Amino acid sequence: MEPTRPLTNTIDTMLLEERRYEPDPEFARQANAQPDIYERDWEEFWETEGRERVTWFEPFAKLYEWEPPYAKWYLGGKLNVCFNCVDRHVEAGNGDKVAYYWEGEPEDERRTITFADLQRDVVRFANALKGLGVKKGTAVGIYMSMVPELPVAMLACARLGAPHTVVFGGFSAEALSDRLNDMECELLITQDEGWRAGKKVPLKRNADVAVAQSPTVRKVVVHRRTGGEVAFDEARDAWWDALTKGKSDDPASAPCEPMDAEDLLYLLYTSGTTAKPKGIVHTTAGYLVGVATTHNYIFDVKPDSVYWCAADVGWVTGHSYIVYGPLANATTGVIFEGVPNYPNAERWWEIIERYKIDILYTAPTAIRSHMKWGPEHAARHDLSSLRLLGSVGEPINPEAWIWYREHIGGNRTPVVDTWWQTETGMIMITPLPGVTTTKPGSATKPFPGVAAAVFSESGEQVAPGGGGYLVLDRPWPAMLRGIYKDDKRFRDTYWSKYEDVYFAGDGARIDEDGDYWLLGRVDDVMNISGHRISTIEVESALVDHQKVAEAAVCGRADERTGQAIVAYVTLKGDEEGSIEMLEELRDHVAKKIGPIAKPANIVFTPELPKTRSGKIMRRLLRDVAENRALGDTTTLADPTVVEEIKERATADASED
Ligand code: PRX
Repeated sequence: MEPTRPLTNTIDTMLLEERRYEPDPEFARQANAQPDIYERDWEEFWETEGRERVTWFEPFAKLYEWEPPYAKWYLGGKLNVCFNCVDRHVEAGNGDKVAYYWEGEPEDERRTITFADLQRDVVRFANALKGLGVKKGTAVGIYMSMVPELPVAMLACARLGAPHTVVFGGFSAEALSDRLNDMECELLITQDEGWRAGKKVPLKRNADVAVAQSPTVRKVVVHRRTGGEVAFDEARDAWWDALTKGKSDDPASAPCEPMDAEDLLYLLYTSGTTAKPKGIVHTTAGYLVGVATTHNYIFDVKPDSVYWCAADVGWVTGHSYIVYGPLANATTGVIFEGVPNYPNAERWWEIIERYKIDILYTAPTAIRSHMKWGPEHAARHDLSSLRLLGSVGEPINPEAWIWYREHIGGNRTPVVDTWWQTETGMIMITPLPGVTTTKPGSATKPFPGVAAAVFSESGEQVAPGGGGYLVLDRPWPAMLRGIYKDDKRFRDTYWSKYEDVYFAGDGARIDEDGDYWLLGRVDDVMNISGHRISTIEVESALVDHQKVAEAAVCGRADERTGQAIVAYVTLKGDEEGSIEMLEELRDHVAKKIGPIAKPANIVFTPELPKTRSGKIMRRLLRDVAENRALGDTTTLADPTVVEEIKERATADASED
């Protein structure tokens, strides 16, 4: 069992939010979800959605099988995810419909990609992959930025039945090679460089370092994005454009592989409470039904919607709600390569105005950044096309929720705060627009067909008004099918705190109306800008530095990023902490994990507070980081250590 910490602090400090937003009757009338959706029997719900939302090569024979902790869904069914996301829309006469508007970071770079274009690109690339020996079951790594070729690569893999793992383009070479090695990828798809706030991100250079440590990778496909000079290994590397040149774009030349409902679609690695990321397993049918169904009802997508999920495809939000869910529903989406404040803070609002976007889905950290930059940037643009706003990734504070609705949603749009995880694959707790009365800061109710509860430490269901641990007590179609090659960790992490019940690792409160209020992680996982990073991963990266003897890491509340990383570091021998050392360590963490994991503060200390048995007392470090009165210090081996750390913490603070 991974450790959990008591929830009392968060629950006690939980703000009681009284504001309510009833659905607008006009929205309600036209909404995809009607109130009776909550009355549907959960098995009937998933059975019907499964039959109607997805096109099967062979129908499924059985809805699900549950042998805790492993579930199977839509047993006996045969289908292909790429066929469902692309080919069937072209066959239905929607080839001219726009699949993606792509907005490059340089402002004059834009592309409009129809479903027919997408099919041609995917088929050509699938043929290229076939030429490199990729077939059903070949593991493929993808390390790219937000370019259209990223979904093309994912879909081409899905078409051939080759499972992929997408590694976020902000991760380091080491993080990449860890994942390539764990999945035993044979091929890596990457690009020369990416754009980020006017600077070039050296993706190919990182990929070269990673592949040098990933013996299973035999081929590297390189998409040319910036045209910058990159090293090129003639024997191993191949340019995307050269490979696809002259390849057939006839769908029959690279047919969609009929996949079993439970065949592996992808792995996505996520942080847990140890340094080694977990390869979360997602399979074919249940995942597709889950993401397509939730996308339809929660975002109220219409045939003429222009939908923008402003996440990165490298995270689960992008997998489920930029690529697979929206494409399965034949939705027109927007992909943006850049960041919200480059070249200035108006970029997002220009994009919304340009494409007349009606649905925007983003993270609280982005909303808080926009709050900081001020509402005047949005006010200069016509955002009247917006009908719906969504939030994901971390608890949204009521003030940010209200700001989002007022300044972006014109005080008119519903806001859906959606709770879910890499592991759940699909949104699990969320309002349904037009149906649910929303409360700023609450994710409200489990999605239809989903069961959740709040449990006490001892496993009793907490009654309305109480707080405890969020659990999911029934299987759902898009649920993880395990941790890749690690059954024990799967059981220990999610299924051992309570028997046969999924333990999400989040604290939650349930109010008198049965609405859920998410309270953040209860384990040693931090949530930085909506991304999970484990304290131990960062500690390992720090200790990896030759001058570091010991390190302890924790999160502290941060206005903009939700949490920020604080590291306490003991240096070896006579080494002294200095500003240079601090920068060196921050860079070292960026190199080992990625810039997102750089500590915001590093406190150099001659010693860490430990119990007599030698365990680092993280609780005290959290208290120091958050400037709280210290809890019980009686079990400390040397009580003077924390006082010293407290003094240093106030002296050495450094902000990003
Ligand atoms: O702590 C919860 C938080 O993000 C965690 C899942 O992180 P990840 O797997 O990276 O997926 C993020 C995108 C789905 C959860 O355990 N979280 C996510 N959404 C919310 C949230 N916390 C509160 N409210 C949310 N809406």
